[in-house]
Amino acid sequence: YGLLLAAFVFGYLLGSIPFGLVLTRLAGMGDVRKIGSGNIGATNVLRTGNKKLAVATLLLDAFKGTVAVLVAHHFFGLEAGLAAGFGAFLGHLFPVWLGFKGGKGVATYLGLLLAICWQAALAFAVVWLAAAFAFRYSSLAALLGVVAAPLAALYFSLPMVTVLLAVMSLIVFSKHHANIKRLLAGTESRIGSKG
Ligand code: G3P
Repeated sequence: YGLLLAAFVFGYLLGSIPFGLVLTRLAGMGDVRKIGSGNIGATNVLRTGNKKLAVATLLLDAFKGTVAVLVAHHFFGLEAGLAAGFGAFLGHLFPVWLGFKGGKGVATYLGLLLAICWQAALAFAVVWLAAAFAFRYSSLAALLGVVAAPLAALYFSLPMVTVLLAVMSLIVFSKHHANIKRLLAGTESRIGSKG
């Protein structure tokens, strides 16, 4: 299990880089945790009004998941890839550098999934986009996307991946408890609005 642990720690360190916070700080925009939902993800970076930074946050937060899986898989095999991907996901959610208060994991989930099962990543992305266009809530789109992903892995008969994704999806749901409350109350902010 030494290799798996090493892969997990490697993924965690990569995943714990809070790109939303780093980019907005570098751009001199202060602390993104003080605006909107207080989250460090792309959706909240968009609430600063800077679309380019939001896209960069999305890509980099996704990319760290992809890179973690690909590198660990390349050197140590499939299971190490999964361990590194899970590590990256948890690193984004619980970064030691921010007192374990990180993001909600949606972009990193998609990024690691892309490297593990592109069909499930496609299902996630299509569901996210369709829901985002239909309802204009990033959180709702994410919640539907993380339901679709394990179902897609199940459909493609990947039991280990299905279990991993199901666990990650439960964690994503728990990280969205405030969003779910706002969605139910009708007070969730829509994509692009500053709220
Ligand atoms: O990806 C995070 C998104 O689902 C919700 O972000 O900032 O609206 O809480 P936020």
